[in-house]
Amino acid sequence: MVKEDRKAELSFPDGTRYELGVITDNMGAHSIDISNLRKDTGYITYDPGYMNTGSCMSSICYIDGEKGILRYRGYDIEDLVLNCDFIEVAYLLVKGMLPNVKERQEYTQLLNKHSLLHVDMRNFFRSYPHGAHPMAILASMVASLSAFYPEMEERDPEENIDLTVTRLLSKMRTIAAFTYRQDKGYDFVEPRYDYSYCENFLNMLFSSPVVDYHPDPVHVKALNQLLILHADHEQNCSTSAVRLVGSSEANLYASVAAGCCALWGPKHGGANQAVMEMLERIIGEGLSVEDVVAMAKDKSSSFRLSGFGHRVYKTFDPRARIAKRMCQEVLAAQHKEDRLLEVAMQLEEAALSDEYFIQRNLYPNVDFYTGIIFHLMGIPQSMFTVLFAMGRLPGWIAHYLEWRHDPYQKIGRPRQVYSGPELKKVVPISNR
Ligand code: CMC
Repeated sequence: MVKEDRKAELSFPDGTRYELGVITDNMGAHSIDISNLRKDTGYITYDPGYMNTGSCMSSICYIDGEKGILRYRGYDIEDLVLNCDFIEVAYLLVKGMLPNVKERQEYTQLLNKHSLLHVDMRNFFRSYPHGAHPMAILASMVASLSAFYPEMEERDPEENIDLTVTRLLSKMRTIAAFTYRQDKGYDFVEPRYDYSYCENFLNMLFSSPVVDYHPDPVHVKALNQLLILHADHEQNCSTSAVRLVGSSEANLYASVAAGCCALWGPKHGGANQAVMEMLERIIGEGLSVEDVVAMAKDKSSSFRLSGFGHRVYKTFDPRARIAKRMCQEVLAAQHKEDRLLEVAMQLEEAALSDEYFIQRNLYPNVDFYTGIIFHLMGIPQSMFTVLFAMGRLPGWIAHYLEWRHDPYQKIGRPRQVYSGPELKKVVPISNR
């Protein structure tokens, strides 16, 4: 439980003083409670990018950015990656505990039951222009689910929560696979009840009527682990978008669609695609890693080293360590070398020994190696962020539900520091 133990004081040059509550969380971190600041003092706080703002109390995910710790519901990420599959972790995030055998089986049955897509929704895929970005399709398809499956809006959401959650987890996988098949001009492949969640996804992507396909167990394991690595990351940009949209009491599908849009950007979930483009450019243009590090340091250009740096981690992102190991495992199973991985490791070494990156605590983040793993699995770059979204989905759902039960829930509505003109008078159009 969080507790208030002491007070902070805010004083102004005119001698006025205000007491502010101090909150200490379960892990000993302190926050200043400014929830009544404007009411009591007339002041607001200015915090672009919310770098210092705690927007909610949450028990889902714990990060220590200085020590490189990531835990879901108290479990360390490494422990989860080694001992659970993605669906167990999804269950943990959404329901707050790991499932037992019976609960896991029941969840699987629900996931299978809801994996098919309404026939009218399938027709939508044909209407997108060839080459449409899969994230555009994913976001609009997820929002469309609320039109096809409106129960959540119509009845008490708690009554249907397992139904809605498993439906979303299952159908988003089907939508993601169909997006790929449509882009390739292939027929859709239906989900199979005898395959696990990840086997099913790979089968729906790569199965062919003319070539025998069975999901490679190494790829199935890697996909499970990658989805777990992405499953939650507390109040990141897309999760905050889900919470903000959800705070208007928009339904779960609409809120998750907003999360997909937020994730799309290259500073967030789009970074794994940007890493691959950067590595390919290095190889294609024959650049040296030193050239690229110099470009990333050059303040006159907007180029950044993709997959490096993080708002929260000021040391190694623990997910990057796991992803690097997975990358080496997948490659070893293929008995070949990969130029992209070679260049990535050289780039990591060059950046980590450079003063600019050392001073700013810039380390590889989760996206630095995940793109290479997807590439080794045969997944095209345009699908990378879609896979990130599939992984992040349980986290988004868990945060949406947590907000619904939050006794302090309020519609999200930040203030601003106005920098526009004072009152102006309209000049009639004929005189302008
Ligand atoms: N390459 C070069 N310089 C960088 C980089 C980078 N990748 N990242 C940060 N910096 C510099 C930045 O220019 C600034 O320098 P200065 O102090 O001289 O102005 C300083 O480091 C602090 O950067 P910031 O942009 O103020 O930090 P932030 O917390 O706002 O941004 C970030 C975090 C992840 C957006 C940023 O590090 C970045 O753009 N990284 C590249 C994109 C990327 O890999 N994104 C994936 C994030 S992890 C996946 C996820 O959780 O979404």
